[in-house]
Amino acid sequence: MKICVIEGDGIGKEVIPEALKVLNLLGNFEIIKAEAGLECYKKYGYYLPKETIEKAKEADIILFGAVTSNPKDKNYKSPIITLRKLFDLYANVRPINNFGLGEIVGKIAGYKFLDIKSIDIVIIRENTEDLYVGREKENADKAVAERIITKKGAERIVRFAFEYAKDNNRKKVSCIHKANVLKITDGLFLETFYKISKNYNIEANDYLVDATAMHLIKNPNIFDVIVTTNMFGDILSDEASALIGGLGLVPSANIGENKALFEPVHGSAPDIAGKGIANPMAAILCVSMIFDYINENKKANLIREAIKYCLINGKTTPDLGGNLKTKEVGDEVIKYIKEM
Ligand code: NAI
Ligand code: MG
Repeated sequence: MKICVIEGDGIGKEVIPEALKVLNLLGNFEIIKAEAGLECYKKYGYYLPKETIEKAKEADIILFGAVTSNPKDKNYKSPIITLRKLFDLYANVRPINNFGLGEIVGKIAGYKFLDIKSIDIVIIRENTEDLYVGREKENADKAVAERIITKKGAERIVRFAFEYAKDNNRKKVSCIHKANVLKITDGLFLETFYKISKNYNIEANDYLVDATAMHLIKNPNIFDVIVTTNMFGDILSDEASALIGGLGLVPSANIGENKALFEPVHGSAPDIAGKGIANPMAAILCVSMIFDYINENKKANLIREAIKYCLINGKTTPDLGGNLKTKEVGDEVIKYIKEM
């Protein structure tokens, strides 16, 4: 099996090598390295060179770090959004899980107001439509962005969410939307949600996105699986990450019919890049999602256990209150796995 590895910029270059240590310890993959991002642009004049696209095409799986965007360049096109579209990776799965360690993670992340032992929510974000279709235009006094929701796009992401819930023994799927204002676009999404929910024996309900922003902080455990449109999913997943100690703990899978791309939810974090203190757990948890994807669930669980072990024993980077370096956290994970 071929895995195309794109480290990208900033802490992408620091966390992906740790993920690779784990990937190579537990699996036997052909690793194909490729470049993308701002540094790549400065070197070759492309954010996502043709060779990278070719290598990604050739691979079964892509492991992606993070890239620094360049909004000042009018020609800038996000490599990650391009890859999602190119391979039609329509389902973005983002597990928000504190491994039942609410007190520990809450304390080290400095949350005094949260007293929730276990948080285990999965956000499923539509990944190809909505405001991310990139159709923006402007004239003298107006700027317009098109928000596209298609029937096909809504149907397949909602179906994916219910299938995910069924396969993973989840009890409820909640649709998050703003159909009271976006009557036509989110109206279609919500209508599709209830239509498809009838095929499943799983509880289905819905919330407005603004209320969801509040509920996530006040009573996050009303949620189990969330299915939502692209932009809302982007924002809510960063918000939800704060419940479990921040972006350093949230991996994600971008899944299509024939290919999948795995990436930590965080960006290139220029504020801490180069210091060797980025939390590699999100990237390492991407490897557990890769093993889940290829139905090697034992290996996937072993990686999650190793992360849990590190959290319980304070073997963490500074974002989670520890004093380990990125590499040292990777080494602890490797040590735990080797001893099992
Ligand atoms: P960010 O996710 O890079 O960082 C947000 C905050 O979280 C920062 O304070 C950072 O230090 C912290 N953080 C993130 N990951 C961490 C980790 N693994 N360990 C410890 N702390 C961590 O988001 P930001 O700063 O808004 O964006 C930085 C750049 O990354 C921008 O150019 C942005 O466009 C890009 N970006 C790229 C993404 C991707 O490639 N998929 C996703 C999100 C942002
Ligand atoms: Mg984001």
